[in-house]
Parts: sequence; structure tokens; C-alpha cells
Amino acid sequence: MSHWNHKHIIDLASFSLEDYKTVLELAKRFQNIPSSGSRKLPALQGKLITTLFFEPSTRTKSSFELAAKRLSAEIQSFSPSTSSLKKGESPLDTVMTYVAMGANVLVIRHSCTGVPAQLANSLDKAKKNVSILNGGDGLHSHPSQALLDLFTLIHFFDKSNPCIENIYGKKITIIGDILHSRVARSNLWSLTACGANVVLCGPPTLLPEEFIEFTSKPPSSEIDPIKKRGKVTISRSLKEALEDTDAVYTLRLQKERMSENLLSSLNTYHDDYGITHETMKLCKENVPILHPGPVNRGIEMSSELLDDQSICLVNEQVTNGIPIRMALLYLLATNTK
Ligand code: NCD
Repeated sequence: MSHWNHKHIIDLASFSLEDYKTVLELAKRFQNIPSSGSRKLPALQGKLITTLFFEPSTRTKSSFELAAKRLSAEIQSFSPSTSSLKKGESPLDTVMTYVAMGANVLVIRHSCTGVPAQLANSLDKAKKNVSILNGGDGLHSHPSQALLDLFTLIHFFDKSNPCIENIYGKKITIIGDILHSRVARSNLWSLTACGANVVLCGPPTLLPEEFIEFTSKPPSSEIDPIKKRGKVTISRSLKEALEDTDAVYTLRLQKERMSENLLSSLNTYHDDYGITHETMKLCKENVPILHPGPVNRGIEMSSELLDDQSICLVNEQVTNGIPIRMALLYLLATNTK
């Protein structure tokens, strides 16, 4: 792991191909821990992982906590509703409290874009020897989700040889509420880095034209570590977007992030962009469907399709989240600078 040089993981814009390979290889090793007997590895014994989820979560928080346990770390979990946030304490003071208790890695989710990055900056300035792992911030980034999606896809494309090269040249279609999705943004960085051509599909109110430029603009201080990315295109037609695609990724309509009504009706949305067994017939055979969860059944995806494990990989995504998060926690907790 000698080349690993990220103290924090805030987004994937700064990830090189080596970084992706390191995470995926390590996750592959952790995936193979036998599922009977003691499932624990001693790798993070003596390390303290703290999860601070200022915004609700089912999958990500539990998955990070289980990953930490599987590596024998100590785990501490902050819950905003019963904390001193209620008395007006700031996120930074909250974080500093957990740093003073000896946290090695803080997994942070916040509804505002930029909070994990700001906290990482403040901790670095204060010379604190602790890593921040972004568990999802506002509309910005959700790196562990995109990495577990990548892990799921490389296995789907070739189970006997699940490697990053399996993604090269593939057409991956992401459908739905792209505007409000940190998952879509993180997947755009990871999939194009591995050479996939990504087609974004949705109505103009949920998918502005600017997204075509998305991966050509790494955050201001960064030079793109990827020499040649896959292409990003936009399609308003589901038929066109599904034609010849190798995988379909659909997203939740994130009503809690919509400032105004961006859709004429949910029924119209489902008719135009909802994915069902019927619409999957527009794809070639054996194309999988992914979704980060939670799913609005019957809106972005039909209930029947969600329950059809022959093509819907939602459960595999959840399962794969554990080894991916074990890999991320291991890399940060053992490389703290
Ligand atoms: C996503 C999130 O919170 O960004 N969920 C997740 O982490 N699995 C997507 C969503 O909320 O729609």
C-alpha cells in the first residue's frame, strides 16, 4: 500500500487508477473472509472509528460500523438528536470532542455540501492526526457508494476476474434525479476514470445540460490524475439511453432536496423515466439494474423489478459495501499522517 497518499477521502476527483485498484484489491481480500466462525480480522485492533451522521442513514452508517467491527476496531457512534447539537454546539466543536477521545477515523455525513472538507481542513490546521471519510455530503459526493457500485459492476461483468479493466468501454446509463444526487456525481468520477462512457438520462429540471462538462472540471486546486476519461453524454429519451447499454443505474427522486416542484406529476415521471421489466426490454439481454437505496417503489423503479434478484443488484450493492468500507477504513486508519 506504499503509494496510498490520501489522509482524508472527501471525493473521488483526486483518485488515480492506482487508488481505485488499491481499494478494489483490498476489498476483494476482505470479501473472502469465511462467513462462518469468527469473521473478525485483528487489522484495526486498538484503532477508534467514529461515525458522525448529521443526516439520516440506514445502509451507509450500519455498513461502516459493521466494517469497523470486522476489522476489530473500537467503534463509537454519534447521534445528532440526543447530542449537544441540540444545545447549539457546532459540528467542528462536536468533531473536536471525538478527536479528544482519540478517534483515528471520523466517518461524516452532512446535509450541507462541503462540511466534511471544511472539517478536514480545520483538523489539518490544528495538526490533528485524524482522517475524515465522507459518508455523503449534500449534493456533492458519496465516495464509498461509488466504490461499492464499481466493485459490484466489475464482479457482474466478470465474476472469475473482477478487475477494473472490466469497465473499460462499457456504456453505463444513469437515470433520474441527477441534479440532487451525490451518488451520481461520485459515480461520474469513478466510472469515467475506468474508461466507461456514461449516459445521463432524465428531464431537464433534474438533469441540466451542464452535466456534460462535469468531469472536465476537477475541483479548482486539482489537476485530473486520470489521463483519458470515458465520455459523458445526456439523453432525454429512455429508449435511446437504454439501447446498447451494459448497465442501468437508477436514482431515488430526492424530494427532501427539491426546493420547488420540479415535476408535473409522479405518474408522468414514472411513465417517462421509471424502470420496469417492460422498459428493461429496451436493453440487450442480461443487463443489470443498480440503485443506491432507499428506493421509492413504483416511482423510479417498479416493485417487481426491485424484487427480481436475477437482474436487480441492490442487495449485492449492500453486501459489497462491507468489504469496500473495510478497505477504506483500513487504508485511512493505518496510513494516518
Ligand atoms: C444515498 C445517499 O444518501 O446519498 N443513499 C445511500 O447512501 N445508500 C442515495 C439516496 O439517498 O437516494
